[in-house]
Amino acid sequence: MPEVNEYMIDRVTENTTSAVTPMIVREYNKIGEGAFGTVVEAVLKPLEPNTEESNGSTTTIANGGERWLGPYAIKRVPAQTEYKSRELELLRVVNHPNIVSLRYFFDKQSKSDGEVYQNLVMECLPSNLQNEIKYYKQSKYTIPYPHMKAYTFQLARAMLYLHGFGISHRDIKPSNILVDPSTVTLKICDFGSAKKLEPNQPSVSYICSRYYRAPELIVGCSIYSTKIDVWGLGCVVAEMFLGKPIFQGQTKESQLKEISKLLGPPPKTFFFKSNPHYRGEMYSTKLFSCTVEERFEQIFSNSPPDAIDLLMKILVYDPEVRSSPRRILVHPFFHELKRDKFQVYPRGASEPITLNLFNFSNYELQLLGSLKDELLTSV
Ligand SMILES: Nc1ncnc2c1ncn2[C@@H]1O[C@H](COP(=O)(O)OP(=O)(O)OP(=O)(O)O)[C@@H](O)[C@H]1O
Ligand SMILES: [Mg+2]
Repeated sequence: MPEVNEYMIDRVTENTTSAVTPMIVREYNKIGEGAFGTVVEAVLKPLEPNTEESNGSTTTIANGGERWLGPYAIKRVPAQTEYKSRELELLRVVNHPNIVSLRYFFDKQSKSDGEVYQNLVMECLPSNLQNEIKYYKQSKYTIPYPHMKAYTFQLARAMLYLHGFGISHRDIKPSNILVDPSTVTLKICDFGSAKKLEPNQPSVSYICSRYYRAPELIVGCSIYSTKIDVWGLGCVVAEMFLGKPIFQGQTKESQLKEISKLLGPPPKTFFFKSNPHYRGEMYSTKLFSCTVEERFEQIFSNSPPDAIDLLMKILVYDPEVRSSPRRILVHPFFHELKRDKFQVYPRGASEPITLNLFNFSNYELQLLGSLKDELLTSV
C-alpha cells in the first residue's frame, strides 16, 4: 500500500481565475524524484466556508460527500533557491493541448526541514516518453511508427506555440515529455529550466541534459535561440527509432565528439559563430569515410527514408540552417497523419482511435503563416 499523506492548505490558488480557497490535499503515490523536486499523485477537495457561526468565529468544514478533484500531479520545489526557476510564471501563461496544464498552486512549509516549498498542481499523465521507449525496447520493438509520427507532430506543435512567444524549454528530453499511450497524446512538462529568450540578450549555456544539448551550447554559446529545443526534438526522435540515446557523450566535451560521429567534424565557422572564445577540442578529424547522408542511412538502417530526411534537416550544426517547428510540421514524414482515414491502435487496444491533431488555434495558424495551406491540405 502506498503511503497516504493528507493535509489542509488555507490558500490554494486556482490558476485561471486566481481565486484563493482552502483545500484538503491527499497525496497517495510518488511519481518522480528529479534534480530539483518531487512529483506526487494527489487528489484535492475544496473546503467551503461554513456560514454557521460557532463560538463567534467562522469555521471551515469539508463538503459533504466525496468531492475529490483529480487525480493531479503535484510538483514540489523549494520556493527560494539561488537558481531562478520561472516554472510557475511560465506555466501560468501557456495554454496549449500539448503542454501540461497547471490547475492550482500553493506554498507549504515542510514539517521536516522548515523550508517553504512551491507546489504546482498539474493535470496528471500516466507515462513519459522515456518509459515508453524503454517499454518497447525491452520487447525488442520500437514505438510503432504511426505513434511516433503522432508524438513527434505534437511535440513540434508544442514548440511552434512556445517559440512563438520566444519561450525556450531548455531541457527537452524523453523524461520531460509526458504521454498517455491509451490516447497517443503528448504534453511537454518540466518548465524548471524554461526561459523567454530576448534577442541579443545572453543566457547561460550550461542548460539541457548532456545527451540532448545542442552543439552551440556545448561550445559555450551564450546568445542562442529556441533552435536549441529543435535539436532536443531531433535527439528524441532519433531515440524513438534507435531505442537508446543517439549521442551518449561521457563528458561535456566528448558530447561534441559523439555528434561528429554522425555529422562529421564541425565546420570552423560553427565555432566562430557560436563562441569565438572557444578553446576546447574541435574534433576536426573525420571519423568515417562515407558521406554524411550515407552515415545517417547506416545509423538509421531500419528507419524509413522520410524519417531519415527529417532527421537530416534537424540534426545540423548551424542553428540557422536547422529546421524550425513550422517546417517540421509540414514535412512528408507526417503526411500519413493527414489522411482522412488515419487511425491508431493504442497499445493493447483491439479498436483503433482517431486523433485530433489538426485543431490549430488562430494563433498557431498565424505562426504557420505561408505554410498554413500546405499543412491543412489533405493528401
Ligand atoms: N503532470 C505530470 N503528470 C505525470 N507525471 C509527471 C507530471 N509532471 C512530472 N511528472 C513525472 O515526474 C518526473 C519529474 O518531473 P519534472 O521533470 O517536472 O521534475 P524535475 O525535478 O525538474 O526533474 P529532472 O530534474 O529530473 O528533469 C517527470 O519525468 C515525469 O515522469
Ligand atoms: Mg524533468
